[in-house]
Amino acid sequence: DQSLRALAADHGLYVGTAIDVGALSDPTYSQIAASQFSTVTAENAMKWETIEPERGVYNWAPAEQFMAFAKAHDQKVRGHVLVWQNQLPAWLTEGVADGSISKAELRGILHDYITAVVTHFQGRIWQWDVVNEAVTDPWDSPDGHITYKGFWYENLGAGYIADAFRWARAADRQALLTYNDYNIDAFGDGGPLDKTQFVYDMVKDLRAQGVPIDVVGSQAHLSTRYGNYSPFQIADAQQKFASLGVATALTEVDVRNLMPAEQTGDTMNPLLQAQAYDYSALMQGCLASRHCISYTVWGFDDGHSWTNTWDFGAGAGAEAMATLYTADYQPKLAYRAIQADL
Ligand code: XIL
Repeated sequence: DQSLRALAADHGLYVGTAIDVGALSDPTYSQIAASQFSTVTAENAMKWETIEPERGVYNWAPAEQFMAFAKAHDQKVRGHVLVWQNQLPAWLTEGVADGSISKAELRGILHDYITAVVTHFQGRIWQWDVVNEAVTDPWDSPDGHITYKGFWYENLGAGYIADAFRWARAADRQALLTYNDYNIDAFGDGGPLDKTQFVYDMVKDLRAQGVPIDVVGSQAHLSTRYGNYSPFQIADAQQKFASLGVATALTEVDVRNLMPAEQTGDTMNPLLQAQAYDYSALMQGCLASRHCISYTVWGFDDGHSWTNTWDFGAGAGAEAMATLYTADYQPKLAYRAIQADL
């Protein structure tokens, strides 16, 4: 069995994908999702706007459809996501904006939401993304240093991060609790604009306070437009985070190409080669670290990738074709590269 999941198992590694619940009715999609991956993440079905679209009204059905798929195929589940500034329900953001939800009430709402969701899935989640994307990037740090950002920070202060991890642990003592972010795949110069260093310092500080954070998740949304990392740089970041006593995970791997990227398996295509290099550098970096527990791609086929519609700065969909398979489910060079690494 040369599937990614079988090959990864020999390394004690879980290889995963995000699942678009709406695509599970496509038999080819389901067949690849089931046979190639040993861990899955719901792409959207466990986000707050989906789970609690109206205040106090929980909608578990899409998440449960996803959970049933994972169970049927013996896949570990990464729960995504408890605390994030995006894809929040309108009742929450509008209630805060118009003052009908006070800050004190907001903290209670967050506590109750985390408790309800983690309790609902208790015993069924391997890793929870507890806090997602809590810090700035160099380009939105005008005062010259990385800092905290977003709805929760602006309304509750940075203390919400420690609170969220403690509340999650109280509701599920077994799940591994993750801080998840992008652009923390490799360390920079260690200076005030080094986001990876900021997250490292933050996690160190939280752990020193006894906050139950078990995993640092590096999303690894890359683009061939912006250079690349060597396997050594990836491994170095994995090891440095692990030195804090946490495991690490690559949680949302994809590698965008500026369109039009040739989609076929033509091995001479330099864009496909650059993409395969990045996928492989991440895999090699993960394999080099005993503490890297999972390598998850954010969708496995170009037909269902969020990169098709998201604007990464070159216009919506201008950077895309970011996954392991073509839109007609042919494995790309990137697939062959990580298969060979495993
Ligand atoms: C993306 C989904 O893939 C899209 O379908 C959705 O419209 C927006 O969110 N970081 C994360 C993921 O943590 O939840 C995001 O997923 C991609 C960036």
